[in-house]
Amino acid sequence: MTEPLRFGLVGCGVIGPVHAEAIASLPDALLIAAADLDFARAQKLVGKYGGTPYHDLQSMLQRERLDVVIICTPSGLHGEHACLVMRSGRHVIVEKPMEIRREALDEMLRVQQETGMKLAVISQHRFDPASQQVRQLVEEKAFGRLVMGNAIIPWWRSQAYYDSGAWRGTWKLDGGGVLMNQSIHSIDLLQWLMGPVKSVMAYTDTLAHRIETEDVGVAALRFTNGALGVIAATTAAYPGVTTRIELFGSQGSAIIENDELTLLHLARDEKEAAGDYGVITKTKPTEPGQQPNSSGASANPAAIVANSHALQIADMIRAIRENGTPLVDGYAGRRSVEIILSIYESARTHREVTLL
Ligand SMILES: NC(=O)c1ccc[n+]([C@@H]2O[C@H](COP(=O)([O-])OP(=O)(O)OC[C@H]3O[C@@H](n4cnc5c(N)ncnc54)[C@H](O)[C@@H]3O)[C@@H](O)[C@H]2O)c1
Repeated sequence: MTEPLRFGLVGCGVIGPVHAEAIASLPDALLIAAADLDFARAQKLVGKYGGTPYHDLQSMLQRERLDVVIICTPSGLHGEHACLVMRSGRHVIVEKPMEIRREALDEMLRVQQETGMKLAVISQHRFDPASQQVRQLVEEKAFGRLVMGNAIIPWWRSQAYYDSGAWRGTWKLDGGGVLMNQSIHSIDLLQWLMGPVKSVMAYTDTLAHRIETEDVGVAALRFTNGALGVIAATTAAYPGVTTRIELFGSQGSAIIENDELTLLHLARDEKEAAGDYGVITKTKPTEPGQQPNSSGASANPAAIVANSHALQIADMIRAIRENGTPLVDGYAGRRSVEIILSIYESARTHREVTLL
């Protein structure tokens, strides 16, 4: 029988324990060690999930036999840490965003090519059943011509959340505000479902928090397939409302709300075609007691369940075992960051920005 893959983890703050929980749920994965500059956090994590605690990544890499290391440190350190891991001959899974600067993204891809190690970037919502179903329908061209794709992210983060880590809401380490940190999930899903973004026109502002970066941003998009779209995002919408990904096409529409497919209407499933004024489509009714408007990470950054992370870690294990490619590799991980950097540039220059 093959031995489970041996995992290390760096960064034991909010998201580190979610990875530890995900690893614990996978039979082919074993947590060997965890590192954090705040040693007590590393100790606490291994106290619950097993393994050896370390103060820093370098000594963990030197002392432990590891196959894969997961990077859960502040976003602006992802490149440095991922390159260190790949150069030490280990595969790497990096939390989102892959990095916050273009040069660092390029360096990560260069090191990945040089070392031949595998690089996966967390975008766990690609593994949600609703996202998978809509992506499958896009591949079947079930929506006809895609005309519009929107990502709406009216989330809430308190000032205390931003104050809970010196890196939060800074350009240097968070790389941006609501767009780079919270909305990257939805932006990645939107471009994965709609196809690549060609150009953006955007506004951003900081309206309700004491932070350097934006807490509200809107962008008009043109996709390479000709469709248009909108990203509208904030962390100042109290109490944190449903995230929506909307896809509209000439032969069908889909809406994903908080990871659930709440509307799917395809011409191919109809007995009769829609009339000149279309059809009245009801979204899935809300169950009694259910509160779709204030659930999940829209209101609470710690309310992230480990299931989707486990699916993505399992996808990396598959890629390693089969010598294949992870679903979200470095090239895929870079795309959403490119869109966000282009939005920032457009907001700064008041110009349309075409993506490279
Ligand atoms: N996929 C998701 O849903 C999700 C959710 C939350 C956070 N994230 C991402 O995970 C990363 C971490 O976010 P967080 O909210 O857990 O942050 P956090 O501040 O809670 O945790 C980061 C940890 O890294 C440690 N650290 C900092 N520099 C270090 C270094 N050089 N070496 C070792 N440890 C170091 C800190 O002490 C801290 O414990 C960010 O990139 C964030 O965007 C992803």
